Amino acid sequence: MCGIVGYIGYKKTKEILLDGLSELEYRGYDSAGIAVLQNHTFSIFKTVGKLVNLKQKTKSYHPEGFAVGIGHTRWATHGKPTELNAHPHLGENSYVVHNGIIENYVPLKHELQQKGVKFLSQTDTEVIVWLFESELKSSSTPFEAFKKTLSRLKGSYAILLVSKSREDTIFFAKGGSPLILGINNADEKYFASSDAPLISHCKDVVYLEDGDFGYVTPSEITLIGANGIQKMPSFKVLATDKLSAQKDGYRFFMEKEIYEQSDVIADTLLGRLKDTHIAFEELDKDFFKGINEIKLCACGTSYHCALAASYLFERYAKIKVSVEIASEFRYKKPLLFKDMLFIAISQSGETADTLESLKMAKNAGLKTLTVCNVDNSSMVRQSDAAIFTRAGIEKGVASTKAFATQMAVFWMLSIYLADKKHSLQKDEIQKHISLLREVPACVKVDEEMHEKITRLSKRYLHGHGFFYIGRDIFYPLALEGALKLKEISYLHAEGYPSGEMKHGPIALADPELFTIALLPNHMLYEKTKSNVEELSARDSTICVISPQQFKKADDFIQTKQTSHYMLEFFEMMVATQLLALEIAVRLGHDIDMPRNLAKSVTVE
Ligand code: G6P
Repeated sequence: MCGIVGYIGYKKTKEILLDGLSELEYRGYDSAGIAVLQNHTFSIFKTVGKLVNLKQKTKSYHPEGFAVGIGHTRWATHGKPTELNAHPHLGENSYVVHNGIIENYVPLKHELQQKGVKFLSQTDTEVIVWLFESELKSSSTPFEAFKKTLSRLKGSYAILLVSKSREDTIFFAKGGSPLILGINNADEKYFASSDAPLISHCKDVVYLEDGDFGYVTPSEITLIGANGIQKMPSFKVLATDKLSAQKDGYRFFMEKEIYEQSDVIADTLLGRLKDTHIAFEELDKDFFKGINEIKLCACGTSYHCALAASYLFERYAKIKVSVEIASEFRYKKPLLFKDMLFIAISQSGETADTLESLKMAKNAGLKTLTVCNVDNSSMVRQSDAAIFTRAGIEKGVASTKAFATQMAVFWMLSIYLADKKHSLQKDEIQKHISLLREVPACVKVDEEMHEKITRLSKRYLHGHGFFYIGRDIFYPLALEGALKLKEISYLHAEGYPSGEMKHGPIALADPELFTIALLPNHMLYEKTKSNVEELSARDSTICVISPQQFKKADDFIQTKQTSHYMLEFFEMMVATQLLALEIAVRLGHDIDMPRNLAKSVTVE
């Protein structure tokens, strides 16, 4: 989703801004721009499409010496992806970049139009810079004008603003969207909407909090908190491990991330699997005391993990679980009780709907836990406790290893809770621990299987749709398999509980309907098999993923014989990821940055 960078200093401003934006590219965007203020003059460049266009446009621009610059990658929300709508947006003498949504931009725009302002773009962002210009006329300082501007905005934002009214300064504000300030020496300041652009430049960073605003100059940082009182910036050392990611010889980040799952799951398990019990250092020993129900809340792939986790919690820890899509939860006026534990699941820790749901739960007095891949993310900072999935940076927009590590965490957490609640016997707990130890080996990509899937993929490039079907915990996996395919191949795919097919979906069955059937040995094999046979009888084209040969299938992807359905789950997860990947490769799509999608969705 939208990305922000900012820089004040003497180095190569253009390169710093463009490199920073490249680091944010994987998050998804459809236009980009930079504005540099130097010697009383703004240089501004904007382009639609990929950053390579912006790099081309700025090829002969080489600012030397001190400059103030801001840059942005935009994922269109208000107004199409055009150059005019791309950030930075100009007022009279100032430029702004903004992530988030200004919800009251319509009345503000009318008010400014009545004062004679002519808007160039269709964006909500442009009101910020015009409001600032308007406030400037009646304010004693530009900072006062900035403050007054912020007081008029409703919605969510991370903002950087540069103005000729105060040339050596970047004004900043954070309200709901992430923003980080980094320093390395007294004369340089950096901003970014996430860690990645800062890594090669700064050691010390401030993760700004909601309500924070202020300004920086080469020699000064002025930071005001949500209560309006000036505060000292609280610097943290920027963790750099696993943050920079290269393709390492793989064709795509997504492919690399699928192949990495074995290693990152080993990290997820590290120190948590003891001989006789499971340990989470992040949770104090009474964390689950007084908890009678769990609410799991998430979006996208993380929501599929939540659904899968609900089967594990109920089956092993015998606890009541409800699962919520965050964008629904926020507005349904949910019943919340103090004996509920609210668990937010998020790869990024920044997804706007999940973050707001977490805040709602917190405000209602619930204990909160975040299962997350990003240290210091907004959700981690908001919740009572956090468990890290340790997947390392995930660059492919279609989530793979983040999901895999989330699943490993929830398998462990359900057994951890089962142990606390004595709902499993000690020997059963030990059995789960040994099975968990097998997961890294089980998700190692089998080259033969990959080759087979590559060959098969050519038969699945047309048709009128895909049904991914499975039962029990293989139903959320079917949903996730279908989502992977949709995201990168743009083919229509749905996940269904296989028992539901006869209640409507089977009406679509014909040879042009492709069914991907998850048929594990150790979970309702016969039941699922009957459902697949029903589809086969209606001549649907069927690809079975199973350890057992299935004669009535058109195609067959064989998984290993294992001793437990969860190991089958992980292996089938890999098979569905590879199938989506290879179909999309044949269709010639952008695997790591699929159209219309963003890695981290920081608007609701
Ligand atoms: C976006 C991404 C998905 C992701 C979802 C939730 O839509 O494209 O891959 O599953 O956000 O993200 P989160 O970071 O909260 O897990």
